[in-house]
Amino acid sequence: MKLRSSAWFGLPDRDGFIHRSWMKNQGLPDHLFDGRPVIGICNTWSELTPCNAHFRRLAEYVKRGVYEAGGFPLEFPVMSLGETLMRPTTMLFRNLVSMDVEESIRANPLDGVVLLAGCDKTTPALLMGAASCDLPAIMVSGGPMLNGKFRGQDIGSGTDVWRFSEDVRSGAMKMCEFQEAESCMSRSAGHCMTMGTASTMACVVEALGMGLPMNAAIPAADSRRYALAHMAGQRIVEMVHEDLKMSKILTRPAFENAIRAVAAIGGSTNAVIHLLAIAGRIGVDLSLQDWDVLGRDVPCLVNLMPSGRYLMEDFYYAGGLPAVIRELGSLIHHDALTVNGKTIGENVREAPCYDREVVKSSAEPLKRNSGIAVLRGNLCPDGAVIKPSAATPELMKHRGRAVVFENIEDFYARVDDPGLDIDSNCVMVLKNCGPRGYPGMPEVGNMPLPSRILQAGVKDIVRISDARMSGTAYGTVVLHVSPEAAAGGVLGLVRRGDVIELDVAARRLHLDVTDSEIERRRQEHKPPQPAFRRGYYQLYYDHVLQADRGADLDFLVGRSGAGVPRECH
Ligand code: FES
Repeated sequence: MKLRSSAWFGLPDRDGFIHRSWMKNQGLPDHLFDGRPVIGICNTWSELTPCNAHFRRLAEYVKRGVYEAGGFPLEFPVMSLGETLMRPTTMLFRNLVSMDVEESIRANPLDGVVLLAGCDKTTPALLMGAASCDLPAIMVSGGPMLNGKFRGQDIGSGTDVWRFSEDVRSGAMKMCEFQEAESCMSRSAGHCMTMGTASTMACVVEALGMGLPMNAAIPAADSRRYALAHMAGQRIVEMVHEDLKMSKILTRPAFENAIRAVAAIGGSTNAVIHLLAIAGRIGVDLSLQDWDVLGRDVPCLVNLMPSGRYLMEDFYYAGGLPAVIRELGSLIHHDALTVNGKTIGENVREAPCYDREVVKSSAEPLKRNSGIAVLRGNLCPDGAVIKPSAATPELMKHRGRAVVFENIEDFYARVDDPGLDIDSNCVMVLKNCGPRGYPGMPEVGNMPLPSRILQAGVKDIVRISDARMSGTAYGTVVLHVSPEAAAGGVLGLVRRGDVIELDVAARRLHLDVTDSEIERRRQEHKPPQPAFRRGYYQLYYDHVLQADRGADLDFLVGRSGAGVPRECH
């Protein structure tokens, strides 16, 4: 098979001289240019992305495997996305990174690629970019942090931050304890160790067949994470020889497996948006409604925060995702191909479970019906989502008076105002936090409750927005309302005191206001203008799709392949 890289390194002429000679300034010997597979290692390492800060070492182990299998590894950086630092939100830049990945792969002499991702958005960004090129690719996740330990208790990234912060506001926790917990939570390399977005997406990688078995759960600090990286390096060389492209793995059954896996792990709602975007790139027909249909009867089997009580380290010791997939039995398409050349069914056939407290059996699940519920109604004609496993059962059917916040600044200015007219039956509504409105659809949908409400002992209130929610968060939170307020959605027209009905069983979200009144308000409405009007912000604002379509840029949907561009000299 003629390799793509031969169009650079296989040329006997002046151009071949240029392509090889400058590379040799890195100490690369002649024989590496003899036509062997060239493997890109796409690295999202950055000290600004603490979850990915160990990736240079991880890349070294991938290289060992590539060399061992007779390949030629070349590591390259792409923009990284650190969830805890980037403003206004990493989601704004997910599509930008995917473009960086796509163009870096296509423009260079690569035959296959190993994708190193960890922190939330780095995983979908790399999968989206690589899918647009459709070369053989394998993802190595960075692995979760070890369990947090605080005063003898396990504490989980994110989930316990939200809990501690509410406890401080309600007076149940002292400020000095809160500060002490800060050093106890993040105590090793790796990403959030709850079943937040990063862990969910790492499970998605494995369920899609894009990572080796156990890719999701091995802690970043465990030596077996590095062994897995080594094996991924070895395997990608074979995948190039086999021409095992992403499109042979990312089929409709693979996406269906991933949706069911997300339900079984009690995974993050962010996976909805990311999987829709990845499917759009590779050309698989996947819709928001598929999430509801496919996930509806799937039991939640994994007892991890925020839906349960354990953490990713426990998940690994219990058997990791293979134990979950095996337990799902006939809900999984067993013949879906994975990167190791075997089907997912073959990979999990003998998968053991060592701890039924952490990975439950389908006969005795953590929760019976998990999955993501997709709501419809005049408030969200194109859909909205709620994660029932993280919600309060008593609030799943609810009718209440709207307390409206026009944007996030309005929310923070008024949430703790003693004069705020709110009680536990109200519905909190937050506008202008969608893809265009914020911009970038931040994780603010799980609005903190007003102190006054917390002090009264209330733990949850129905909350509705066009934002996302951290995968580590919990509550009766309706998210991703589409169309968003800033794109002309009815959400932007909700007023204080309007009555809203939520009925999760009936999949209904309704604003109890007549159509004529909604129309009248629409005529009066002046949508907020974007704060920035240049560069990537402008491109994003003009082209971003709504959440129900994965919030990709409209011109990036579909793939362009990895044809060799014309010569550069
Ligand atoms: Fe990086 Fe949670 S902050 S994964």
